[in-house]
Amino acid sequence: MLYFKRFFSFNKPVFRYRITFYLHIGRIALDETVIADTHQVTSGELKRIDAHIVAHKNVLGGLLPLLHAIQDDLGYVPEAAYTPISKALALSVAEVHGVVTFYHHFRTHSVGEHVLQICRAESCQAMGSEQLEMDIKSALGVDYHQTTADGKITLVPVYCLGNCACSPAVLLDDDVYGRVDKKKIEALIHEVRSS
Ligand code: FES
Repeated sequence: MLYFKRFFSFNKPVFRYRITFYLHIGRIALDETVIADTHQVTSGELKRIDAHIVAHKNVLGGLLPLLHAIQDDLGYVPEAAYTPISKALALSVAEVHGVVTFYHHFRTHSVGEHVLQICRAESCQAMGSEQLEMDIKSALGVDYHQTTADGKITLVPVYCLGNCACSPAVLLDDDVYGRVDKKKIEALIHEVRSS
């Protein structure tokens, strides 16, 4: 009850911020409905993970750079990496898991050759991203967190790419595209699929 009163009794901007924040977190949680990952971590991938661990284990505050290195290399941070990371960095497995799952950037499931992220935040929504989402899903034949049958593209939602002035925006691998419409996204998808 006390928390309830405090929640509602703050000044209006703070209250508005809290509401936006909780809606945002709730929406991310909903989007995290993940499709079962059938990919098994290979011995080659485990070796690459070990190499990244060796390169980062003596770096002060090396956990985040290490996780980035693994994801940049494999496309995601597999659960099989948690134990060797925790041993090398003297952390618990729960701490490693906590960091990986706290940052929305890190993926815990394998992805296709390319990752297409669609911005679902306010500015993009106001500029028609919901229709764009439907167009993209229909063009690819997949839903969020799924990969196309040819293994080329994994579709992922994201919340603000910092490109609000050019909404709606998408991120294809490392490249941001703004003012995206059906024609533009179909051309991008075609380019990726024929590469
Ligand atoms: S809201 Fe989509 S880029 Fe900021």
